[in-house]
Amino acid sequence: MDLYEQRRYLSTFTANRVPHIFTDVLVIGGGIAGLRAAIEASRYGDVLVVTKSGPFRSNTAFAQGGIAVVFSDDDSCEQHIADTLQVACGLGDYGPIDTLIRRGPAEVKELLDWGARFDRDSDGKLCRGREAGHGLSRVLHADGDATGHEIAETLIHRAIEAPRIRVFYQCFTIDLVTLDDVCCGAITYHPKYGHQLVWAKQTILASGGAGRLFRETTNPEIATADGTAMAYRTGAVLRDMEMVQFHPTTMYVAGATRTLISEAVRGEGAYLVDRQGRRFMTDYHPDAELAPRDVVSRAILTEMSRTKSPCVFLDVRHIPRDRFAKRFPSIYERCRQFDMDVAHEFIPVRPSAHYMIGGLVVDQDTRTTVPGLLACGEVACTGVHGANRLASNSLLEGLVFGAIAGRAAGESLAHWSANGHPSLISTATTKARRVELDLEDIRNSLRALMTRSVGIEREMQRLDEAIHDIDFWGRYVMDKTFDKPYDWESQNMLTVARLIALAARNRTESRGVHHRTDFPNTDDQRWRVHVTLRRGDEGPVLGTNPVDEAPA
Ligand code: SIN
Repeated sequence: MDLYEQRRYLSTFTANRVPHIFTDVLVIGGGIAGLRAAIEASRYGDVLVVTKSGPFRSNTAFAQGGIAVVFSDDDSCEQHIADTLQVACGLGDYGPIDTLIRRGPAEVKELLDWGARFDRDSDGKLCRGREAGHGLSRVLHADGDATGHEIAETLIHRAIEAPRIRVFYQCFTIDLVTLDDVCCGAITYHPKYGHQLVWAKQTILASGGAGRLFRETTNPEIATADGTAMAYRTGAVLRDMEMVQFHPTTMYVAGATRTLISEAVRGEGAYLVDRQGRRFMTDYHPDAELAPRDVVSRAILTEMSRTKSPCVFLDVRHIPRDRFAKRFPSIYERCRQFDMDVAHEFIPVRPSAHYMIGGLVVDQDTRTTVPGLLACGEVACTGVHGANRLASNSLLEGLVFGAIAGRAAGESLAHWSANGHPSLISTATTKARRVELDLEDIRNSLRALMTRSVGIEREMQRLDEAIHDIDFWGRYVMDKTFDKPYDWESQNMLTVARLIALAARNRTESRGVHHRTDFPNTDDQRWRVHVTLRRGDEGPVLGTNPVDEAPA
């Protein structure tokens, strides 16, 4: 049996020796999906939210562009659905997309009622930005380019005010706990309180994405794929794990943390140019800078290679400085911190890992294949993004499916009955035989490997090599029982990196964000299916799910 498959629990604990906490609904994750789910579930029962970091450290809080939603008379749900399906490249599921877009306006209206301050024009009308793939401007934003922060703040306040919600910050979820294959909570670790066993009648996983598996990423340090890995260990079915979206424009300053330069900047008219200042996107796509993200990212790679340069550039010199600074205050300030005068200089950019499209298979109520476990937000694969995510649809997804998850979990409380007995939990592992490796070194090597071999362009030999390396590291890392979050995260990162590489090797075609240089064409006959993955005794088991077709 391979080592990744052996581990059911990363940590050893004895149920009757750790403190027990009881709640009706446990929510793992404090971003938009988790908080929205918690607020909804608290209408039905007691809710505990656990998050491994502090407030404002989620991917949500870093979102710049905004939230795509139909909010004006010149737009329609049909048009937004059509744009979403078009960008999804044949893998978008109609039912969930229809739900997302038709429920979106009511969810956003509620957010406004709760105090979210989105930008308005002088007539008090909501401002709408333009991003790639949208047939018209429909992206609402706040403080110019700080939309995520405003949404996070609104939801955090709402959650704090809710009498039935408790939030544990800095509380790392090590594993979901199952009894007879039913999820009944999680084992967590807090630096002050140690291990705690949280018993929940329903558990909602909203733990976010996996950007940190790649060296180049827009994601904060928390995005280490913990939720995906722990769900995989329970036997939950995952799908579309090969679908990782890269954002074309991340500020590139060697040695500095990468900073997202929102697509909305191109929506406001910025050009992509090479080091000579030549605008190149017009050579690649009729929509030029507003072509789908996968097209722009690959064009940038081609230009970087052609010009032997580590980056290309955004040219915003033709946008008046004051207008740019007002519309994008955070980006303007970030450029200023690097002594870049955007009125006279180009902004150096290159693509980086941005959003995990694949994740846990969920039904229309966000239930995973593990009873008692629901999932929403980036950790779930609702099918709304297909093979490529339409810009700014993900905050909407977090809101809409977060609310659905909270309601579904809440409504289930009435039918819940106790399952098994805590003392039945066994987390025994065999003693490690191999030497320890330097986890920091492995993590850096893994992130470089993923960017190089499982990134924007992929091909069989490099994927094979990547899987070989990850398997090698796994032999030394997955047999150990660690006792701190950094180390558990590293085990999770290896687990999920391997699944992404395996899924990418399996799909021998190119579609959306998954580009195989050895299979450059889209093969609808064979591959217009979702590919599923679940844990098996001898290794991951692959399967398929049909696409939910739009009505004729
Ligand atoms: C951006 O601001 O470009 C990111 C928006 C998104 O990824 O949806």
